[in-house]
Amino acid sequence: MKKQVGIEALAIAVPRRYVDIEELARARGVDPAKYTAGLGAKEMAVADPGEDAVALAASAAARLMRTHAVDPAKLGMLVVGTETGVDHSKPVASHVQGLLKLPSSMRVYDSQHACYGGTAGLMAAVEWIASGAAGGRSAMVICSDIARYGLNTPGEPTQGGGAVALLVSEQPDLLAVDVGLNGACSMDVYDFWRPIGRREAVVDGHYSIKCYTDALSGAYRNWRERALAHEVVRWGATMPGEQLARILYHVPFCKMARKAHTQLRLCDIEDAPNAPASTPEGREELAKSSASYNAQVASSLDLNARVGNVYTASLYLALAGLLNTEGAALAGQRVGLLSYGSGCASEFYSGVVGDKAAKRMATTNVEAVMAKRERVSVAEYERIMNLSYENPESLPPQAGEFRLSEIRDHKRLYTQGP
Ligand code: HMG
Repeated sequence: MKKQVGIEALAIAVPRRYVDIEELARARGVDPAKYTAGLGAKEMAVADPGEDAVALAASAAARLMRTHAVDPAKLGMLVVGTETGVDHSKPVASHVQGLLKLPSSMRVYDSQHACYGGTAGLMAAVEWIASGAAGGRSAMVICSDIARYGLNTPGEPTQGGGAVALLVSEQPDLLAVDVGLNGACSMDVYDFWRPIGRREAVVDGHYSIKCYTDALSGAYRNWRERALAHEVVRWGATMPGEQLARILYHVPFCKMARKAHTQLRLCDIEDAPNAPASTPEGREELAKSSASYNAQVASSLDLNARVGNVYTASLYLALAGLLNTEGAALAGQRVGLLSYGSGCASEFYSGVVGDKAAKRMATTNVEAVMAKRERVSVAEYERIMNLSYENPESLPPQAGEFRLSEIRDHKRLYTQGP
């Protein structure tokens, strides 16, 4: 039997504070419906300088190790996908290795390509295990980021932060990846970037949406070609994309998942052997189907709507949200996943939800992590956003969580809550 490889378990970490998105809209003199209905947001995580990409990654990883009883001796690879690392040279992954006292006999590195870096790391781990080179060992892949555009910018309501840690192994209790079917599409574009030395990203917002949907089309069509060849999907009474039980997208803001889904359907509608609509308007109308969006996408967006953009972790936060609510119902069913990173790179892949997904998610208990958060006012959010990165607030870390406590001689020192 062909070896199964994929995600065995996951854990999340989120900043301790969040702001209500309607309150932010009112403070900016914007109709709250623009942020809620227009962007699909409810709340936005507010990370303070003590909750950097290292602290969030280590907190998620420690929770994963603790709640799923991961044996450190069985780990052979640790990859952190991030675009908001803290050093030009020392990787976030080596901080995590030290903070969690992981063994030295491991391959440890960061993976960077905007929001795609986490998926690049995940695929390196999956293919390392599938190739047999891992020799039965597992990998930990952590996606950790702080999304910042700055106060009073169009990107402001699409900020956020957090981390998702994934245990990747030959026991894919959450998701067995269809190894070898992945479709990729990358292009050299300037849609979103963060020059060295800048805390805030620079973005050509509307163009970035077009880059995302263009790259999605390439990656999805590439996956579909392979999936058709392997008879994982087929042209028939339903279109190939409709044969996936759910489709998860990179979620910079929730409305983007809806736009992405429309684009994916458009790919199928345009390429179908028996054209389901004869005019461009007819095809567009069919692609926009609310019924399809509600059935295949909406149930994955709850956590994203409450956290905001988490760059590399956004797709995996959607996976956590989906399996948290539908893990039992989806056992044995195939889902599709679309990763996008500005610059740009995208990858579409598929996998089958494991029989133990619901049990694993109950152990992970993402709701308990979310429930610990504290709502802050817009004034407090603005104060936090203006804090210097050099002098983190001296707050005690929460139980089990890591926090940057000090920067001494350019070295970053972290402490963990009891
Ligand atoms: P904007 O220009 O302020 O907003 O910025 P808008 O005018 O486009 O309005 C947004 C939506 O709200 C529209 O809906 C409006 O119609 C609607 P749409 O037409 O698009 O469906 N709207 C309303 N709805 C109800 N009631 C109202 C109302 N008013 C307006 N009263 C933008 C929006 C997303 C461009 C901005 O927030 C931004 O620049 N965000 C950051 C960039 C981004 O998230 N890009 C996404 C694709 S790129 C990506 O995903 C990669 C990324 O994660 C980075 C990485 O890879 O590392 C960003």
